[in-house]
Amino acid sequence: MSKAQQLLDWVDARFPLTATWKSQMSEYRAPKNFNFWYFFGSLALLVLVLQIVTGIFLTMNYKPDGSWIPGTNVSVAFNSVEYIMRDVAGGWIIRYMHSTGASMFFVVVYLHMFRGLIYGSFHKPRELIWVFGSLVFLCLMAEAFLGYLLPWGQMSFWGAQVIVNLFASIPVIGPDLSTFIRGDFVVSDVTLNRFFALHVIAVPLVLLALVMAHLIALHEVGSNNPDGVDIKKHKDPVTGYPIDSVPMHPHYTIKDILGVVVFLIVFSSIVFFKPNMFGFFLEDNNFIPADPLKTPPHIAPVWYFTPFYAILRAVPSFLGTQVWGVLAMGAAVVMIALLPWLDRSPVKSVRYRGPVFKGALVAFIVAFIGLGMLGALPPTDIRTLVSRILSVVYFAFFLGMPIISKIDTYKPVPDRTTVPPFSAKVKMIVYFLITFALAALFAKVI
Ligand code: HEM
Repeated sequence: MSKAQQLLDWVDARFPLTATWKSQMSEYRAPKNFNFWYFFGSLALLVLVLQIVTGIFLTMNYKPDGSWIPGTNVSVAFNSVEYIMRDVAGGWIIRYMHSTGASMFFVVVYLHMFRGLIYGSFHKPRELIWVFGSLVFLCLMAEAFLGYLLPWGQMSFWGAQVIVNLFASIPVIGPDLSTFIRGDFVVSDVTLNRFFALHVIAVPLVLLALVMAHLIALHEVGSNNPDGVDIKKHKDPVTGYPIDSVPMHPHYTIKDILGVVVFLIVFSSIVFFKPNMFGFFLEDNNFIPADPLKTPPHIAPVWYFTPFYAILRAVPSFLGTQVWGVLAMGAAVVMIALLPWLDRSPVKSVRYRGPVFKGALVAFIVAFIGLGMLGALPPTDIRTLVSRILSVVYFAFFLGMPIISKIDTYKPVPDRTTVPPFSAKVKMIVYFLITFALAALFAKVI
C-alpha cells in the first residue's frame, strides 16, 4: 500500500474524507442533460472565493479612516486605496480583481437565477434552494453596498447618503433608524468604520453560511434539469441509480472547468484591458475624494442595483412620504423569493410551457433590462413614465403568475430527459478538448 493511501486510510478512520468525496462528488448523481446554463452555480462559487481571497489582501493595506490627511482634502481611506493601486506590490491587480469580481458576481448570479426561472428549478421539492438563494442575493446586495463606501470617493459618500436616507422615510422609526445605521447624523468616519466591519466579516460570514445551506438543500433533493423531468422516476434495477444520471465527478467537474476557463478569459480581459468597464464597474466620479460639501449633479448606483433603483424612483410620494418607493423596491426583491408559491404551473421547464408564460417572460426581461437602463440615467418626465410602466410589468409578472400558469397551455413533458445523440463520455472528452484549446489559445494571444 502506498504512503499516500496509508495517510488517506489514517484520515478516513478519523474523518469521513473519502466518504464525503464519494457521497457529494464521485457517487453523487446529476442529470445527464445539463447545458451551459449549469455553469453559473460553480462560477458563483469561484467568484465568492475570489472575492474573499482578494478582499483579505486588500484589507492588509486599506485603512477605514475617513479623517483628512492634514493640509489636503483627501481622506486616509481614499489615500490608502491609491496607495494600494500605486505603491503596494501587486496591489493594483488585487484591487481590480476585487472590483471586477463584484460586478462579475452579479453577472453570474443574475444568469444563475435566470436559469432557475426558465427551468422552473424553484418548484417542489426545490423551494428551499430558491429561498436560500434569494437570501444569498439579498446578502450580496448588502455586501456590495457596504463595500462601495470604503474607497470614500464622491460616489461612495453620496451613494451611501442617498440609500441610508431612504430609511429615514419609514414612518415613526425612520429618522432614528437612519441615525442608528450611520452611527452619526451624517455619513461620517463612524459610518465608514461600521460599514468596514460589516463588509469584511459580518456579511461574508452570513453569506458563506447561506451558500452552505443552499448547497446542502440542493444535494438533499438533487438538481433539476433543462427538461424539468424527475430523473428519480427511472432507476437502474442493478445499481439503483437514476438511468438518466451521471456521476458529478468527473462528468461535471470537467464540464465546469470549461466554464471556469471561459470565465477567466473574460475576467482577465476586463482586469487587464478595461478595469473600469467604461464607468460601469468603477465609476469616474469615485476617483474624486469624498466631499461632504459638494453634491455630484447625478447620483446613480452601480449597474447591478439600477433596476431596483428605477423602481424606487418610479413610485411617487403619497400622503407626504416617500416610503412607498422604498417598500416597492423591497417588494421587488421579495417577489423573487415568493416565486415557488406564485407559479402554479404543472410543468417546470420553459421548453414545455405555453405562449402566455413565454410572452410574460419576454415582457419581464424587457422590463428588467429597461429598468436597469433607466435607473442609471438622470430622471426626466418621459423616463419616469416609462419606469412606471416597466415597474408595473415587473410586478405583474410575479403577481400575475398564478393566473398566467392557470390559463396557459402546456406541451406534453417527456418521461425521460432529452439528450444529444452522443454519449455522456463523448461529451466529457469534447468539453476537455475545448477547454484545453481555449486555454492554449488565450495563453498564446496574451
Ligand atoms: C453566492 C451565490 C450563489 C452560489 C455560490 C450558488 C451556488 C450554486 C451551485 C454550485 C449550484 C449547483 C450547480 C448549478 O445548478 O448551477 C446551485 C444551484 C441552484 N441555485 Fe444557486 N448559488 C448562488 C445564488 C443563487 C441565487 C441568488 C438563487 C436564486 C434566487 C439560486 C438558485 C439556485 C437553484 C434553484 C439551484 C438548483 C438549480 C437546478 O437544480 O436546476 N442560487 N447554486
